[in-house]
Amino acid sequence: MQEQAIAWRHAGDDIGVVPTMGALHAGHDSLVARARRENRRVIVSIFVNPAQFGPNEDFDKYPRPFDQDRNRLDALGVDAIFHPSVDQIYPPAFKTRLDPGPLGDVLEGRSRPGHFAGVLTVVLKLFSLTQPKRAYFGQKDFQQVVLVRQMVRDFALPVRIVAVPTVREADGLAISSRNVYLNPTQRQTAPVIHQALTQVAGAFTAGETEPARLEGLARERLAAAHGLTLDYVSVVDETTLRRPERAIPGSVLVVAVKLGSIRLIDNVVLGAERP
Ligand code: PAF
Repeated sequence: MQEQAIAWRHAGDDIGVVPTMGALHAGHDSLVARARRENRRVIVSIFVNPAQFGPNEDFDKYPRPFDQDRNRLDALGVDAIFHPSVDQIYPPAFKTRLDPGPLGDVLEGRSRPGHFAGVLTVVLKLFSLTQPKRAYFGQKDFQQVVLVRQMVRDFALPVRIVAVPTVREADGLAISSRNVYLNPTQRQTAPVIHQALTQVAGAFTAGETEPARLEGLARERLAAAHGLTLDYVSVVDETTLRRPERAIPGSVLVVAVKLGSIRLIDNVVLGAERP
């Protein structure tokens, strides 16, 4: 992969990479479409990264429909699908692991210790193997985007990180590979997450800037949903992930909930034209 990528770069071709764990859906399609528009070459990586799953998480049962993914990418027209094995990414001699620093310990990081160390370690390796000029990530995984950007700045990596807006089902549920785990009742409940975010975005537009009150609105809306447990809801600064004294346009409301054992995350940028 690296030899091919270096050859493309030497030939003057820009490379866009879309790192994925497979089980591709419309959200990934939009990442690929954007990469396709902006780069001569597009590489999609498919790798279910064991390093970012906790011991009690779903690494073993994470969906791996590779043939389906390949057909989907063939139809979209990509230049390479990079689908390494765990041993190729983490051979026995592999030792280094990135430390995401304090931004990795809050929100998702607090609920999933070690998760972002695993994400950044694999993303850095994928960047080295695919030599991208641009890399595409979904805005749904907002904290992941913040941490990857921090890593790019810290290590002066010559990659531009592009965050692509979340793609949603008709009822507002953010599309995610994990939605297939939802049973029909949970699936019916799940759109309340987007409804809560939209309500908060509306309150912000109407003049409410007190983080605690904005969070309270979301909390109330989510508390009314049957079978849903709130993990966190927080207004954060888009770069530092700190809670601002007052929300401003560009502040982000982030939410994580559980429906049964299924964890769903979503967010909304306050003051954005379309929530
Ligand atoms: O967002 C994902 O699918 C994964 O975290 C990523 C970026 C492919 C790293 O394994």
